[in-house]
Amino acid sequence: MGELLRRYWMPIAAVAELDDRPTKPVRLMGEDLVLYKDKAGSYGLVDRHCPHRRADLSYGWVEDCGLRCHYHGWLWEHTSRCLQQPFEEISHPDARFKDRVRIKAYPVEAKAGLLWAYLGPPPVPLVPTWEPFTWKNGFVQIVFSEVPCNWLQCQENSIDPVHFEWLHSNWSRALSGADGERSPTHLKVGFEEFEYGFTYRRILEGQSEQDELWTVGRCCLWPNCLFTGGHFEWRVPIDDGNMLSVGWFFDRVPNEMEPYTQDRIPYWVSPIKDALTDRWITSHIMNQDFVAWVGQGTVADRTQEHLGESDRGVIMMRRRLLEDTQRVARGEEPKAVIRDPEKNRVVRLPIIGRNFFVNGSSNVESETSRQRTPGLPLRREFPFLVGQPEEVRAAYRRAMGLPEPGVDARSPAG
Ligand code: FES
Ligand SMILES: [Fe+2]
Repeated sequence: MGELLRRYWMPIAAVAELDDRPTKPVRLMGEDLVLYKDKAGSYGLVDRHCPHRRADLSYGWVEDCGLRCHYHGWLWEHTSRCLQQPFEEISHPDARFKDRVRIKAYPVEAKAGLLWAYLGPPPVPLVPTWEPFTWKNGFVQIVFSEVPCNWLQCQENSIDPVHFEWLHSNWSRALSGADGERSPTHLKVGFEEFEYGFTYRRILEGQSEQDELWTVGRCCLWPNCLFTGGHFEWRVPIDDGNMLSVGWFFDRVPNEMEPYTQDRIPYWVSPIKDALTDRWITSHIMNQDFVAWVGQGTVADRTQEHLGESDRGVIMMRRRLLEDTQRVARGEEPKAVIRDPEKNRVVRLPIIGRNFFVNGSSNVESETSRQRTPGLPLRREFPFLVGQPEEVRAAYRRAMGLPEPGVDARSPAG
């Protein structure tokens, strides 16, 4: 499976993160690495351990070109070359020992406020330009969480429409102590494969085959992402027992706030455990997902499952994964690797409410028209993950034209 995943670019950090601190230790697909940005602006992803005598390069420092080891000063470049070995060059100036040592290095690219890494064989494919990366007038934020379980059970959740009714809607009601009615139940689900993954569709009580939840659906993006229209969630393998959740969230500003441009895409890390109780946090949508995934065990034991009709998408996805793994073993190209620059100018996806994301709506329209399209209300609070920093919340409210808390007529403080 690892060989298959290495055919795809993985988001591993935020661009703004390296602007704040130029080096970052990273564990990715079982490899310990260091991500850095040198003073010339080049990104590198190299072995965590210096090839000289194995010092931890995340304590090194960046120079105009490359990363300098803090132990004996050897200087490494993102292409894997050794540029300097200070004492060796004094003692044996003609030996050129540095030309005979290399460091493990992988390509890194910046796109959509994220830094992407490719750990596979050449030729290196393109970092996909998913359609939302080209949208204007949006407030984007990136949220990371480390989840202690295998990435695949998390990705199986990307093609599981029925869980939303129970894990999010009904469980939230139960957690809040609300009695009474349950949320609308699923009447019908459908799954289809397309070029970049699978779509899942649903009809809930009170909806019909004319609703976009059925006509368009949501995306399980190949091989390790959920795309709902307004946000992406990548499940990036740290190793077999740990997953980095990378969320990329787009909120369209109301027409009254245009033009809106973001100088810097903020990033933050969401905690997953309550320090007081030592229990998983259950208050936010993705936290609820995390509870389900870690609850399945570090690596879910599929031999103990009992799959039903709601799992048809999971079965389709598993089949495709096994087929693609075999394809890669035969030296063939797996699904959804993008190599054509023309195609990659904008990669269109099925998107519920595309018109809203592209053209926006006015504040006046928003409360009514947005409510009609699932997932698009003008959000006052960030519902997906716990722990949004105050400065990100304030920047969001400014972008959306929402009043500061306390001045908000709907706020209890107002
Ligand atoms: S261990 Fe890095 S320079 Fe010696
Ligand atoms: Fe979920």
